[in-house]
Amino acid sequence: MNYRVPRTRKEIFETLIKGLQRLEYRGYDSAGVAIDGHNNEVKERHIQLVKKRGNVKALDEELYKQDSMDLKVEFETHFGIAHTRWATHGVPNAVNSHPQRSDKGNEFVVIHNGIITNYKDLRKFLESKGYEFESETDTETIAKLIKYVFDNRETEDITFSTLVERVIQQLEGAFALVFKSIHYPGEAVATRRGSPLLIGVRSKYKLSTEQIPILYRTRNFENVKNICKTRMKRLDSSTCLHAVGDKAVEFFFASDASAIIEHTNRVIFLEDDDIAAVADGKLSIHRVKRSASDDPSRAIQTLQMELQQIMKGNFSAFMQKEIFEQPESVFNTMRGRVNFETNTVLLGGLKDHLKEIRRCRRLIVIGCGTSYHAAVATRQVLEELTELPVMVELASDFLDRNTPVFRDDVCFFISQSGETADTLLALRYCKDRRALTVGVTNTVGSSISRETDCGVHINAGPEIGVASTKAYTSQFISLVMFGLMMSEDRISLQNRRREIICGLQSLPGLIKEVLSLDEKIHDLALELYTQRSLLVMGRGYNYATCLEGALKIKEITYMHSEGILAGELKHGPLALIDKQMPVIMVIMKDPCFAKCQNALQQVTARQGRPIILCSRDDTESSKFAYKTIELPHTVDCLQGILSVIPLQLLSFHLAVLRGYDVDFPRNLAKSVTVE
Ligand code: G6P
Repeated sequence: MNYRVPRTRKEIFETLIKGLQRLEYRGYDSAGVAIDGHNNEVKERHIQLVKKRGNVKALDEELYKQDSMDLKVEFETHFGIAHTRWATHGVPNAVNSHPQRSDKGNEFVVIHNGIITNYKDLRKFLESKGYEFESETDTETIAKLIKYVFDNRETEDITFSTLVERVIQQLEGAFALVFKSIHYPGEAVATRRGSPLLIGVRSKYKLSTEQIPILYRTRNFENVKNICKTRMKRLDSSTCLHAVGDKAVEFFFASDASAIIEHTNRVIFLEDDDIAAVADGKLSIHRVKRSASDDPSRAIQTLQMELQQIMKGNFSAFMQKEIFEQPESVFNTMRGRVNFETNTVLLGGLKDHLKEIRRCRRLIVIGCGTSYHAAVATRQVLEELTELPVMVELASDFLDRNTPVFRDDVCFFISQSGETADTLLALRYCKDRRALTVGVTNTVGSSISRETDCGVHINAGPEIGVASTKAYTSQFISLVMFGLMMSEDRISLQNRRREIICGLQSLPGLIKEVLSLDEKIHDLALELYTQRSLLVMGRGYNYATCLEGALKIKEITYMHSEGILAGELKHGPLALIDKQMPVIMVIMKDPCFAKCQNALQQVTARQGRPIILCSRDDTESSKFAYKTIELPHTVDCLQGILSVIPLQLLSFHLAVLRGYDVDFPRNLAKSVTVE
């Protein structure tokens, strides 16, 4: 939203579309925008909606087809909203895409990230009052509800933020919302609960404050019937942020900093139930309940993220770029934390809680997708170094089982985005049971990083490709570093610790060696890309490698792929093996080597033709291999970092050869903020 910064409609479109493109990884089955007016005369009293099924590019093309739009018309104050959708309620089409509207005159429009769980009751209520719905979405209920509150207002001068406050009192579920209305031209109101939302601030002039005090309101609303009965205090204008002297200022509301980083790196992270309003170029924040953090103000923070960090560079896809970034990203994860001279590890975010963690009954490590695999990959080394029982859990299953959790448990939440709904719910579940909670995330300011008692930021840099790659290796290393920190005073473990720390030091160089196999892996992909199925088999430290490799293949190539525990081979998977079935076996020089040889014999005895990922010096396995990919050797518990990379590369090449969009696989989103 721009205030006293003249912008043409074309510039406004470009800002919105670019922002959406940066967010496309969060969802991309349809997109839409709402902007002011057709023409100069009526521009601020008319909201124009343009929505389109398909990706953001399709929306962009559609915008320029609208002949009623004068692209050169200039706005001194303008507030446009835009959204890219990943369907949860209702099929992907233009009507179901956002912004959703209150009525055919577009009096109120809203964009929403999240899910409203009580939307059916609200819709029934609103329908009983005569409001007609046009879409199948939960979000449309919000647009209709705000109009209902407005239509039944008790005073003419009710503020936009008061309306929004009344609306969210009625909502259950998760949401980040931004509203626009013809009744409040040039104003914006945004709010969140459970879904991320931040505000970027850009001004050439000095800002009036770096901390925005929260204005607390006292009244609460219980149910829909009460909606319009309560009178609210008006906002106190002394609690606002503005450019000093009412000078030009622009505000950018977004669910992720990558959407706005090219405009400003000065941001305010909103907390659950904050209501942020911009009117007359001033931003104010208020809330009804005290915030979870109890912080009475929101600070403007400066992000270090740079635009080039989120661009593709010379690579054809973000995923490819992120695979090749791993020598640096794993280095960044360790930087300033592992001291290779003194053989010590210090994770600043955990040090104050270390005593408590050492006294705990067990560790529970919880995540979804790739983040869960990072927990599986490090379970054994964590058990060894912490000498504690370690449970690894898929967040959804952990919740389904109502798993017993106790005050003396320590629960880790692994999440690249820090926003995954299932992981966040599991975190709240463990917090309710008073366990100590530890976040391991890649996103500063994310819900998981803010709601946990303490944590580790994995420092992998922004990850855009839906299929997670560098986050996995950095999560892996973060968990190993935690184990090393826990075992610092265990005399019996000193040799082992030294071995692992030494292994960590050489990892970036070894990852580079693995990446140099890219061409060989591309050739392998040429042989495999027409297959329907691909099995990936291993055990011990590399079982997680198989799960993660198979997940990558499924996610972006749409081939059937399964990660198989070699120890389970004879209990079922062996039936799949024949001359045709492609099988990749991960066989490393570790304590499971002999058992893996056994599995290899069983596969070749059934005429299987295994492609083997093995150590360079492994002459035994290569004798039985149809093909080998030879990897440098490292410490057994770190080998999984090297062995997963060929599978990341293989999935990438398979997807490209099969003609798919690597970064945006069908039906999947980067950050799943709904249950
Ligand atoms: C989605 C993504 C996966 C990711 C998982 C967990 O399913 O497509 O790539 O591993 O969520 O995400 P998180 O952000 O919690 O690590």
